[in-house]
Amino acid sequence: MPMPLIDLFSDTKTQPGAAMRAAMAAAEVGDERAGEDPTVNALEARGAALLGKEAALYLPSGTMCNEIALAVHCRPGEAVLCEAGAHIVGFEAGGAAALAGVMLEPISGTRGMFTAAQLRAQLRADNLQAPLQRLVAVENTTNLGGGAVWPLQDLREIAACAHDAGLATHMDGARLLNAVVASGVSAADFAQGFDSAWIDFSKGLGAPGGALLTGSKAFVREARRWQLRIGGAMRQSGIIAAACLYALDHNLARLAVDHARARQLAQGVARIPGLGIDVATVQTNLVYFDITAPGWDAAKLAAATLAQGVRLCPMGARRMRAVTHLDVDDAGIVRALEVIAAALRG
Ligand SMILES: Cc1ncc(COP(=O)(O)O)c(C=O)c1O
Repeated sequence: MPMPLIDLFSDTKTQPGAAMRAAMAAAEVGDERAGEDPTVNALEARGAALLGKEAALYLPSGTMCNEIALAVHCRPGEAVLCEAGAHIVGFEAGGAAALAGVMLEPISGTRGMFTAAQLRAQLRADNLQAPLQRLVAVENTTNLGGGAVWPLQDLREIAACAHDAGLATHMDGARLLNAVVASGVSAADFAQGFDSAWIDFSKGLGAPGGALLTGSKAFVREARRWQLRIGGAMRQSGIIAAACLYALDHNLARLAVDHARARQLAQGVARIPGLGIDVATVQTNLVYFDITAPGWDAAKLAAATLAQGVRLCPMGARRMRAVTHLDVDDAGIVRALEVIAAALRG
């Protein structure tokens, strides 16, 4: 019998288990678009409280949370400051330009993060020829930055700096709950100072979809307008929201296990000749490493390991990502390391 796939490609690859499916099947539902789905309403109330905001909006995806937030905060032609590797820069199919009509002004930070000093250095006085700077966006944890958790103090200083300059603030929290579990800082504390912030259910929490965009009542009202405009409003979506509620109850604290497995994976990678990694940078569930072995690149290594049942994610010519999640256990990590090492030995 073939070995089951050890899928380290992404934490989006999780399968809803039997208990989550049972919660979905039992969900009380109604017309979400009319505000009549009790399960969605319960999830929105819970999400707003979790992030310390007045209101929340249930959306199909994190991408839609980012894109709607940009559109609500900014007018076409205005500028958004964010780190150069941010998801809104490289992974949302140009939505920032196509939907909100904004310019992205990248800040070259470290591991996906920047400081208030770096932000201040990039702020400019109103100048009729330049795009008006309107929003500062951060990502916590950082994806291309390797799952780094922003220091709370930096976030506070960035929010204060942005607000002093009259800019709004937005937090992409695709993996905010990983940051919460890794640091012990609450989601509300991380999101404090951010005019909008969101969490995703389809990543480490293991639900099949959905994300919650939170902010003030006025912000969420405008976000609902955009949700309707771009076709993001659903109907009996309590079926999926029930999986999200289940995930908050059962899959949140266990993210610590994913983080421990990511460290175990990183330590193993560090012992394999031909790979390079700084183990100390692995704070959550994302493990990035470099391929230094002559004659190898990321695509070749990913193909070689996939042939042996281990899926990795090439993230550059010689850069690889492996992500731990609830469908990868300790034995999977051990096996993945054996397969990677064997592939490189040829
Ligand atoms: C940092 C970050 N932001 C946004 C997203 C988009 O989330 P979704 O896949 O729910 O659209 C992702 C997805 O990987 C992400 O890593």
